[in-house]
Amino acid sequence: MAQQPTCPFRLDPAGSDFAGESARLRALGPATRVELPDAVEAWSITGVDLLKELLNDPRVSKDPNRHWPAYINGEISQEWPLFLWIAVTNMFTAYGEDHMRLRKLVAKAFTPRRTAAMRPRIEEITGDLLDAIAATPAGEPVDLRAALAHPLPIKVICDLFGVPDKARDELRRAVDSVFNAAAPPEEVAATQVTLYGLLADLVSSKRAAPGDDMTSDLISARSDDGSGLSEAELLDTLLLTISAGFETTVNLLDNAITALLTHPDQLALVRSGGATWDDVIDEALRWKAPVPNLPLRFAVEDIELEGGVTIRQGDAILAAYGAAGRDPQVHGETAEEFDITRPTRRDHLAFGYGAHYCLGVSLARLEAAIVLPALFERFPDLTLAVPADRLESLGTMLANGHKAVPALLRPMAAV
Ligand code: HEM
Repeated sequence: MAQQPTCPFRLDPAGSDFAGESARLRALGPATRVELPDAVEAWSITGVDLLKELLNDPRVSKDPNRHWPAYINGEISQEWPLFLWIAVTNMFTAYGEDHMRLRKLVAKAFTPRRTAAMRPRIEEITGDLLDAIAATPAGEPVDLRAALAHPLPIKVICDLFGVPDKARDELRRAVDSVFNAAAPPEEVAATQVTLYGLLADLVSSKRAAPGDDMTSDLISARSDDGSGLSEAELLDTLLLTISAGFETTVNLLDNAITALLTHPDQLALVRSGGATWDDVIDEALRWKAPVPNLPLRFAVEDIELEGGVTIRQGDAILAAYGAAGRDPQVHGETAEEFDITRPTRRDHLAFGYGAHYCLGVSLARLEAAIVLPALFERFPDLTLAVPADRLESLGTMLANGHKAVPALLRPMAAV
């Protein structure tokens, strides 16, 4: 393992250059001391093998209440931009048996049957959004993020949880803010108030009138011993499952669309049947993990790594899924390139690994497998309306996507 620098590597909260930053981190070895916003220190794990090992290691926990001294001692402010990623009471931050209990209750409601049953609704929403896009006046660019990648997963997840139409915009803005690692303290505080207010309203309306939705299922979900979710667990589980279904899938769609528009040879290959849409989805997830940095895990005891490096008990650990997707030890010297025929395209960690592996993976894949072919079939001449290097990144180390994806539906000559 390379020599660790004495000062931690300061991660850019705005994630302005994931590829460059990841390469610099990897050059320092698979585990590197980094500085998160507000000078909070952690280990960033960028090597695939080490990341898999640690994600499966019982000496690594996600529970800050039990295993992060800095949190227990009150050193982590409630206005820290990453606060909601650690201070929630749900499976995301649970360890051991607690994690199994919380995950099982949600998995019971999140059945493959319910996901598969979403297909007609996803197709309908996709069709409606594409119709609206088709109505764009000739020659005018359309932002495919705002018009398609963003609204689709949000409509799907809000339908699934029975979120009323009137609450959706506010919920979307609040979830966007949770993913903003550069959010100022007053925004962090306001987001927490808004989110919990919206979720409490949702729960009380479903208690009064249960429906065929996941919020009602979670309210009535019971473990084998008859116990259900506590009130805090219920609100935080809704927060997790609803927000996990938003920004992540939005960025998968954004990244897959922009990758194909900037690699016409790959688009031609999938169109000709030489590769599948699943290949596109996996390679997009590998190339640009929608959640490039996943906060946080904690060492339950000292963990010795190769090369005499020790992660000390209580140290925080960041899973660098974005950097791992480009690990040359797994993906070779061409790891930086987007190539849907790459033999290792499925060997990514974009959905995590081990006990906390993404629970929404089949829903996310289903959405992408419906939207991507529908978009490119409907608009065979789609092109970006700006040069690729003018696409602006989201501005946060927690999400990998673009502020906007302006595109032209038809070639200028046909306008
Ligand atoms: C492309 C889309 C998605 C990506 C890239 C993604 C990514 C991830 C990742 C990396 C984790 C692991 C977190 C960790 O390291 O601890 C995770 C966990 C999770 N995801 Fe997803 N996710 C996506 C879509 C969804 C959707 C649509 C849902 C649900 C509606 C969902 C629900 C969850 C839940 C509940 C967990 C927590 C599992 C646990 O802690 O046991 N995800 N996701």
